[in-house]
Amino acid sequence: MKFIIETQNLILRDFTNDDVHDYFAMDSLPIVHRYLGDNPLQSLEQATYIIEKVRNQYEQYGIGRWTVIEKSTGKYVGWSGLKFLTEIENNRSEYYDVGYRLHPDFWGKGYATESAQAALEYGFTTLVAENIAGSCHKENHASKRVLEKCGLRFINSYLWDNTIPCLWLEITKDEWLNTVKIKS
Ligand SMILES: CC(C)(COP(=O)(O)OP(=O)(O)OC[C@H]1O[C@@H](n2cnc3c(N)ncnc32)[C@H](O)[C@@H]1OP(=O)(O)O)[C@@H](O)C(=O)NCCC(=O)NCCS
Repeated sequence: MKFIIETQNLILRDFTNDDVHDYFAMDSLPIVHRYLGDNPLQSLEQATYIIEKVRNQYEQYGIGRWTVIEKSTGKYVGWSGLKFLTEIENNRSEYYDVGYRLHPDFWGKGYATESAQAALEYGFTTLVAENIAGSCHKENHASKRVLEKCGLRFINSYLWDNTIPCLWLEITKDEWLNTVKIKS
């Protein structure tokens, strides 16, 4: 395993093939997909394919989402972190997106925020990003709140895939540096 970041409560690390059962258990739940505009997974083969895809992104772009583990229990929480997007979304492409998808057993503990904050720090320091975006379904209030708690600000509403009403938020490196200064 190449990559590990520790936060107060979490370990963030590369996806591995050993995650397949935990990944499937999380991503096959309909409630997890409520605002995602796609369907829950139906097979372990689909989970294996996604893990491979993310591992290829590490090779291709030097970044991809991370597996999230709860430090105190060693349990699989879900995924969080950055993805480098090359396809066009909201008239943007070639940008870093911050995102997260957690098993409902771990919702409401601040873990999405804690992991996304670590991802922003990694993006602005190690990857030297100038700007990081985040988007969510307009009714996904928990996700919007996480982005706002991380300092992203609302830019515009748009239709993902010409059908799904979404919100687009962003944070620049200077804005992030200011939030870090305020906290310290
Ligand atoms: C979105 C998601 C990652 C949030 O994870 P989480 O660990 O519960 O998030 P956090 O605990 O860090 O923060 C959630 C915040 O949203 C708030 N919140 C939760 N549900 C809410 C709702 N229905 N309306 C308004 N705010 C809500 C919480 O109170 C908290 O804010 P607070 O700290 O100010 O009280 C989780 O619900 C999830 O994995 N959902 C399924 C996948 C998904 O939708 N991913 C995002 C795609 S854009």
